[in-house]
Amino acid sequence: STGAAGGYAPLGAPSSAGLSHGGGGGGRGGIGGGVGGGLGGGSLEKHKTLTYLNGLSLIVGLIIGSGIFSSPSQVNSNVGSPGAALIVWVVAGILAWTGAASYAELGGAIPLNGGPQIYLSKIFGELAGFLFTWVAVLVLKPGSAAIIAIIMGEYLVRAVIGPEAELVNVWINKSVALVGLATVTFLNCVSTRLGTRINDMLMFLKFVALLGVTIIGVVVAITGYSASGTTANRDWKDHAWFEGTKMDASAWAVALYAGLWAFDGWDNTNYVVGEFRNPSRDLPRVIHTAMPLVIVSYILANMAYFFVLPLDAINSTNTVAVMFGAKVFGPAGSLILALIVSASCFGALNSSTFTSSRLVYVAGKEGYIPALFGRLGTGTGIVPPTPELSTIRTRSWLKKKLARLVGDEDTGLFFTPIPALVLNALLTTAYILVGEFGTLITFYGVAGYTFYFVTVLGLIVLRVREPDLERPYRTWITTPIIFCCVSLFLLSRAVFAQPLQTLLVVAFVVAGVPVYYWRVGRGRGRGLLTRKREGGGAGRRPWWKFWGKRR
Ligand code: ARG
Repeated sequence: STGAAGGYAPLGAPSSAGLSHGGGGGGRGGIGGGVGGGLGGGSLEKHKTLTYLNGLSLIVGLIIGSGIFSSPSQVNSNVGSPGAALIVWVVAGILAWTGAASYAELGGAIPLNGGPQIYLSKIFGELAGFLFTWVAVLVLKPGSAAIIAIIMGEYLVRAVIGPEAELVNVWINKSVALVGLATVTFLNCVSTRLGTRINDMLMFLKFVALLGVTIIGVVVAITGYSASGTTANRDWKDHAWFEGTKMDASAWAVALYAGLWAFDGWDNTNYVVGEFRNPSRDLPRVIHTAMPLVIVSYILANMAYFFVLPLDAINSTNTVAVMFGAKVFGPAGSLILALIVSASCFGALNSSTFTSSRLVYVAGKEGYIPALFGRLGTGTGIVPPTPELSTIRTRSWLKKKLARLVGDEDTGLFFTPIPALVLNALLTTAYILVGEFGTLITFYGVAGYTFYFVTVLGLIVLRVREPDLERPYRTWITTPIIFCCVSLFLLSRAVFAQPLQTLLVVAFVVAGVPVYYWRVGRGRGRGLLTRKREGGGAGRRPWWKFWGKRR
């Protein structure tokens, strides 16, 4: 589908939508121009192609990745009992939903591509927007890609080696993860559309897998059947669902991070708001269908795990889905599930690579990082990407055929942000080498929720500061408040539960401040600040003066 293909890129922004409300629109319209100029020179937002269904498949495809097949052990072992674990899943789901609803309001009020970078710049000043980009490029994107790649490696090794894989050296898993990363990066270098096509296909597989797990779980619960001859693990009437529940707030916070990981990705439609045909109608609709859908399927899948597997078995593994398959269908079941889950992770890794490279690319264009990373490959020259390149155009039959095959007939192959893709792959490699699933999840959670928190807080600030701003979609004010309170609890707990990770995150954020003054503050960057000095500076206001109307 071409709609989804234009897809996830946070590129381009219509200057017509450039926040002319609230007065002094000129200053902020500049954001549009700056982030714009996407692939092929034109703004992607000239083609408002995304429909409701595109949005839905985009977000669901991103959310369902590795988490639901792997986080359950982290959740269970931290809270102690199946009942408590299910509560964590519900809380995590609802928290993600409130976050997504808040983001939908922001996306409607500020209908530009780029998500938090734009919102934070508008609400708190450019430094905040810069710090988001900085942390996203250095920590969030490569960190999350590393987690997904590691899980993919673990599942693939399971598929090949079978049950003994638990004993295998972690470096084998990591090598497989690196090979997967290299493959995905290469595919994304070759073509823009190839990746999105793969994802469209994998989306279907993921739903089938989750549905399958649920149905099997229910059947096993009712009939007591299992390949290993033992009966189902947990009876409906068994009252021990809460036996062993732990009462440690920090442990619950770590469990919540693991649950939130599985729901993560709900912010991704906000990166492409500008490409929706009808953002004010469709963005909330996408959120309010996708989130309940995902929440219900996750709860059901978790119950299925509990019906089939003993608690300590679930706790002991990152590959719970394989264990599930093995218990019900024996070796064939474990093989099939391992393959499905690694495919699901491959898809998630692929979308993650796609979005991250666009983020890095825009950061390069903005002058936040060296301009090299804001460059595109030259393409195979089927159609000249830029007039200057027209002299080297060749019309090789094979190249044309290949490009058509993957759907990039307009631009040709290799017309992609290659330097950005390579940088992202290198950073991801570093995280894969040093990290491990459980610690990376908390690390990612702390960094991610810091910015989710600040952004949603920004929504509240914006309501106070600009009450008359046009908001096509207004969420209940309780929604952002709930989100802020719970994420504040999470963040404060992380300090005790995982002091080292928290410290690292803080260090990354703080390190961004001097970089901002170096790259942007002194006017070296072609960032927002430069443009504001040149044009109307109406958008400038220190972050602490959030009351009163804009001049
Ligand atoms: N929820 C996804 C999973 O379970 C992870 C999403 C990572 N975040 C992102 N923005 N791509 O694997």
